[in-house]
Amino acid sequence: MSLLRAFIAIEFPASLQDAIFRQTARLREAVGSHSVRWVAQANLHLTLKFLGDVSEANIQFINQMLNVEAARCPRFQLTLSGLGAFPDTRRPRVVWVGMQVPQSLRALQHSIENAAARLGYSPEERPFSPHLTIGRVRQTASPTQQHILRQTLESTQLGSIGQTEVDSVTLMKSDLQPGGSVYTPLFTAKLAVQINPEVKSESS
Ligand code: 2AM
Repeated sequence: MSLLRAFIAIEFPASLQDAIFRQTARLREAVGSHSVRWVAQANLHLTLKFLGDVSEANIQFINQMLNVEAARCPRFQLTLSGLGAFPDTRRPRVVWVGMQVPQSLRALQHSIENAAARLGYSPEERPFSPHLTIGRVRQTASPTQQHILRQTLESTQLGSIGQTEVDSVTLMKSDLQPGGSVYTPLFTAKLAVQINPEVKSESS
C-alpha cells in the first residue's frame, strides 16, 4: 500500500507570503542560516491538522471530509501579526509569525480535527496554537548562535504584517527532500460564502 505524508493547511496568496518574507528579512539577515533553516517564501502556510502517513485509498475520504467541513464554515478575515518561538523565545526551536485568531479559525480547526479523528487520524495532544513557522532551529546551532537568535527575537517587534480572506482549506502532500520539504496541494475545499442578509432581502 503506498503512503504519502500529508497535512491540512490554509494557503496564503503570494502577496501575503511576500509581505511576511519582507518583514522578516532583517531577522533572517541578523541570525543567518547556520543556526536556523528558514522556510522558503512559497512554503509559508498555516497548518490546521498534520495527518502524517496517509494511504492513497484514504485520500478520497479526506477530500470528502474537507468538502463537508469547509462548507459549514463561513469565509473569514485573518490578520497576521507578531513574532514568537516554540517552546518560548528563551529556548527557541521553532520561529513563527502569529496572528489575531478569529473564532471561525478555531471552529474550523476543531471541526477538521474531530472529523479527521473519525477517519482514524490520531488527535493532536497539544492545544491548537495557530502559527506560521518561518524557521526551524538547527540541532547544530552553537551556544553563541543560539544567544544571537534569542537576542534578535527578543529585540524584533513585528506589528501587523497583512490581512487575507481565508476562503479555502487545502490537503497538502509533503515530500522530504535533501534541499527541504516540497509541498504539493492535492485538493482544495471552499469555505461557505457568507450571504449578507441585507443584500439578500434587497435583491429578493
Ligand atoms: P510546524 O510548522 O509547526 O513545524 C508540514 O510539516 C506541516 O505540518 C508544518 O506546518 C508542521 O508544523 C506541521 N506539523 C504538525 N505536526 C507535525 C509533525 N508531528 N511532524 C511534522 N510536521 C508537523
